Amino acid sequence: MKNIVVLTGAGISAESGISTFRDSNGLWENYRIEDVANYDSFDKDEQLVNRFYNERRRQLKTVVPNEGHKQLTRLEKDFNVTIVTQNVDDLHERAGSKNIIHLHGELTKACSRYNKQEIYDIGYKDILPSDVDTHGKTLRPFIVWFGEAVPMIEPAIKACEKADIMIIIGTSLNVYPAAGLMNYCKKDCRKYLIDPKQPNTNIAGIRFIQEKASVGVKQAVEEILNIKD
Ligand code: APR
Repeated sequence: MKNIVVLTGAGISAESGISTFRDSNGLWENYRIEDVANYDSFDKDEQLVNRFYNERRRQLKTVVPNEGHKQLTRLEKDFNVTIVTQNVDDLHERAGSKNIIHLHGELTKACSRYNKQEIYDIGYKDILPSDVDTHGKTLRPFIVWFGEAVPMIEPAIKACEKADIMIIIGTSLNVYPAAGLMNYCKKDCRKYLIDPKQPNTNIAGIRFIQEKASVGVKQAVEEILNIKD
């Protein structure tokens, strides 16, 4: 079976009702992203940062996968599919995708602030000041903040190196290392890009479908299923 890598960003979850990051004047659900998405902010005001992610988790509980997430699962019948997502939501999982790499962490998990390998499944529950790790220290969201290492980039790179087809959906391609992943693909890897706006990349040699995910993913999936032989 041929290999497909799908790189997704906030845009694939937009039609489920989750805001993207860069479409809203630097504000993310009314917070300045720099106030909530780095370790220094957490260290300074743990309550504010936990409140922000608790709100995101509660919101996640109320939304559902959209057609974009769902259409991707059709590819698994004929291809080895790896989803590499920058999103911290669980909408790919809930749509039924099997093999998912979360580059930037997962909202439904918490971890020790001193050891990110010490991970706790919390589902859609809030992180409370009374939730502590094995050393009795308060937990933090299992999120890769700006300035932190991105350990899942290694398996993501391996998947890109093997890919026969890459599909990029709903990402402005502003944040590295995710934005550089397509450079690891083989020369003859067929590339699709689905976004209502052209992202920050040269689209030469890429099949650019200028549509929202709900429409564009279906179009790409049908094209790919038709050319599989
Ligand atoms: N369908 C597809 N794409 C869409 C849709 C839609 N319905 N609506 C918006 N988009 C596109 C926008 O045009 C934009 O190109 O989604 C992209 C969203 O870009 P960003 O907001 O920059 O999100 P993303 O690229 O995922 O951000 C990367 O930055 O803040 C950090 O860690 C955070 O994972 C995030 C990373």
